Amino acid sequence: MRSRIAVLLALSSGGALASSAGPPAGSSGVPAAANIPAENTCVMCHADYPLNPDSQGTIVLSGVPSRYVLGQTYKLTLKVAHPEARRWGFQVTAVAGSDLHGAGEVNPLPGDRMTQRVTGGMAGRTYIEHGAIGRATGVGSSGGFTWQFNWTAPSSNEGDVTFYGVFNAANGDGSNGGDKIYAPNSGVLAVSKG
Ligand code: HEC
Repeated sequence: MRSRIAVLLALSSGGALASSAGPPAGSSGVPAAANIPAENTCVMCHADYPLNPDSQGTIVLSGVPSRYVLGQTYKLTLKVAHPEARRWGFQVTAVAGSDLHGAGEVNPLPGDRMTQRVTGGMAGRTYIEHGAIGRATGVGSSGGFTWQFNWTAPSSNEGDVTFYGVFNAANGDGSNGGDKIYAPNSGVLAVSKG
């Protein structure tokens, strides 16, 4: 593990590492689907604890319509909480179908740098995550943190859309050590029916 971190830091100083720009695409914990392997979570690099190491972290996505209107944009709110964390991060994606392909689009609110969009994952998924600026990770904030972003529903009916996501209840030391990563207890964040 130690050597892996050294490699990551070396890459980081070259400016090419995903973590300086934000977590890489495909870190949202979407399960395996037809011909597509399960995604990683942040635990791949924030590896001092297993995923959901205890029941102290909560993640709630609100604003998802129970049934989506084709092509409509919805403003969603992600609330995360943890009693010890002092810095925060997340990644969320929306998927549908037996291959769990990307369903609709997630995007930052217009002009908002608290979140950013990441592409390049499997099955045409698009991801929304905390932005690159310091305040986008709530440095020093205790108790919890909130982000807002848009989801535009698919323009044709793709059946039920499921939202997956994870968050980092970080200790704020500027490293990937000592942080705890949580996914929702039920496995999914929210479902919008087609
Ligand atoms: C490819 C490895 C990698 C993955 C995957 C990764 N991170 Fe990180 N992360 C890092 C590294 C390295 C650092 C420390 C250096 C930096 O900030 O660039 C870091 C730092 C952070 C910090 C600041 C931690 C602190 O205590 O100050 C947050 C918040 C964070 N990451 C969130 C996330 C979230 C959320 C995910 C999953 C969606 C994630 N990271 C996935 C490598 C990764």
